[in-house]
Amino acid sequence: MCRTGYVPFIGNWRSNLLRQVRGCVLEVGAGRGPNLDHYQPGASIIATEFNEESIVQAKPRSNAHIRLASADIEHLAFPDDTFDAAVATLVFCSVERPIVGFREVRRVLKPGGKLYLIDHVRSHHAWLGRLQDRLNPRWHAFAEGCNLNRDTEGNVRAAGFELISLKVNFLGLIKTMVACKA
Ligand SMILES: C[S@@+](CC[C@H](N)C(=O)[O-])C[C@H]1O[C@@H](n2cnc3c(N)ncnc32)[C@H](O)[C@@H]1O
Repeated sequence: MCRTGYVPFIGNWRSNLLRQVRGCVLEVGAGRGPNLDHYQPGASIIATEFNEESIVQAKPRSNAHIRLASADIEHLAFPDDTFDAAVATLVFCSVERPIVGFREVRRVLKPGGKLYLIDHVRSHHAWLGRLQDRLNPRWHAFAEGCNLNRDTEGNVRAAGFELISLKVNFLGLIKTMVACKA
């Protein structure tokens, strides 16, 4: 599992992003549920995760509007065009086939549905990106499949999403994105 879940300031970024989320929402890779306290009343959430232990730990944060379910992002068992919004924070750094995962998320979103993302990525600063490339093999082994150097913005576009907002923090190491199933 990725060990960057406790990035400084992440709590503010979560609440700033998630207060925009409305309707019937799919969260993928929900982990122990740190996002679940940040959704607006009225939103109906299905928070999914493939690690059963994390689902048990997220349970106290579930309620009538927030349901937990087991799901692999690369094989979502939901019909096409089901959700108004999807959320993934600090997840696509460790999804084995990120474009496959983003395509699955796109499939289950309704036309016009939005994807809300926060992730750590490969920096656009050449020196830092090269350092991330060099560190990645060891990091990947240490952090159980997490990658330091993903081009998550490129993967979002490659899966067919249209990027509608992008915020870049910490020398390009963290990106907050909103994308749309056009
Ligand atoms: C660093 S944790 C982030 C948890 C939470 N989203 C957060 O913001 O802190 C990454 C999570 O993604 C989950 N994950 C990774 N690949 C997945 C996949 N293919 N399907 C479902 N969950 C996945 C991991 O089990 C882990 O709980």
